[in-house]
Amino acid sequence: MIATVRRAHRFDGDVTVPGDKSISHRALILGSIAGGESRFRGLSSGADVRSTARCMRALGVEIDDGAVIGRGMQGLSASAEALECGNSGTTMRLLAGLLSAQRFSSELRGDESLSTRPMDRVVTPLREMGADARWPPLVVGGQVPLHGIDYAMPVASAQVKSALLLAGLFAQGPTAVVEPVPTRNHTELMLTAMGADVIVEGRRVEVRPPERLSPLDIEIPGDVSAASFWLVVSSLVDGSTLRIRNVGTNPTRTAFIDLLRACGMAIAIGAARSAGGEPVGDLEVGTASVLRPLSVTGSLAAEMIDELPVLAVAASQLPGTSRITGAAELRVKESDRIAAMTDGLAAMGADITALDDGWVINGPRPLEGARVRSHRDHRVAMALAVAGLLADGTTEIEDAECVEISYPGFFDQLEALC
Ligand code: S3P
Repeated sequence: MIATVRRAHRFDGDVTVPGDKSISHRALILGSIAGGESRFRGLSSGADVRSTARCMRALGVEIDDGAVIGRGMQGLSASAEALECGNSGTTMRLLAGLLSAQRFSSELRGDESLSTRPMDRVVTPLREMGADARWPPLVVGGQVPLHGIDYAMPVASAQVKSALLLAGLFAQGPTAVVEPVPTRNHTELMLTAMGADVIVEGRRVEVRPPERLSPLDIEIPGDVSAASFWLVVSSLVDGSTLRIRNVGTNPTRTAFIDLLRACGMAIAIGAARSAGGEPVGDLEVGTASVLRPLSVTGSLAAEMIDELPVLAVAASQLPGTSRITGAAELRVKESDRIAAMTDGLAAMGADITALDDGWVINGPRPLEGARVRSHRDHRVAMALAVAGLLADGTTEIEDAECVEISYPGFFDQLEALC
């Protein structure tokens, strides 16, 4: 599908974003091994989360419209077929951890993009725990019990951290992970809410194998990464005001909002509350003041890794030179996001130079509609749609159906807000 986007002259209204993708994956996985029925309202309906649901069903779990009938710590059964993870790195890496600790072995497969993404980052530490884990193709499990390890992660990755914590639930002794920089902590929060013994000391997270996980009955907050696209457009289109209600505001996910504010954008978080152990609030965008360029380095890049494509779009409209570095991980996401955003934004007239680990972007430059490629990457497609809303003329985005991965209905909502 080719999506057509034109300049927005005002961008405002009240928006609801899909349920948080990261929390939804964890809800389905942890709910599956809880001792009883969990209820998750507002799960993401995106294709990635549907991949996790499909895999858990293949492992014998009943999942129906947010109800997950947990089978207990030892209740999963082998799937007759390889588990299809589709485009979802979170599904593949988290399940590699969970399944490496089962009595049976499992093969995990992905689409063309996922099949080329690095899996040694989970396979290596899982083997250190005594697991039979091989890649490619990714085959794990059948050699139990595992033993806990103390692992210093070389790459900042919440997926790897979560995989090891999931394996650690079944290991002998505690399992500890030390992160190079802090990453999203949804696994830790949900495990704690389910009664597991999780000890967090700075960048070190330790889990001890529980006898049982308690089922949960929670509302999944809206996805702040999905909200990021609307925050940028509405901040940069004059005269806009926007409210996004019920968004997850976990501090491991909101560094992006702090940065936009530091650049002069007016984004307020109101009605702070908590749901299922996660902070939640309503976001409100007002009129931006004097805009300034942005700078992202090292640990900050890891804290806003999913928002960096749309941040590059924002930088093209900020005065001065913006630099985003320390983001080499973008090269191994659903696409090479550094190359994909450089191609798309340069075709639209932005002054953007790719670095090995980020970009240098000089702004503001007027953007001109062009035909651009999503590289079948949902976040690239949505970031380029934001660029199209800020550009003269017509922008056509190829393979735009990939937004279904995390944001079904994205383009309908975009139309409604213009
Ligand atoms: C995620 C972690 C991040 C992020 C991805 C979701 C998660 O990946 O990019 O969209 O839910 O744990 P990495 O852990 O590979 O950086």
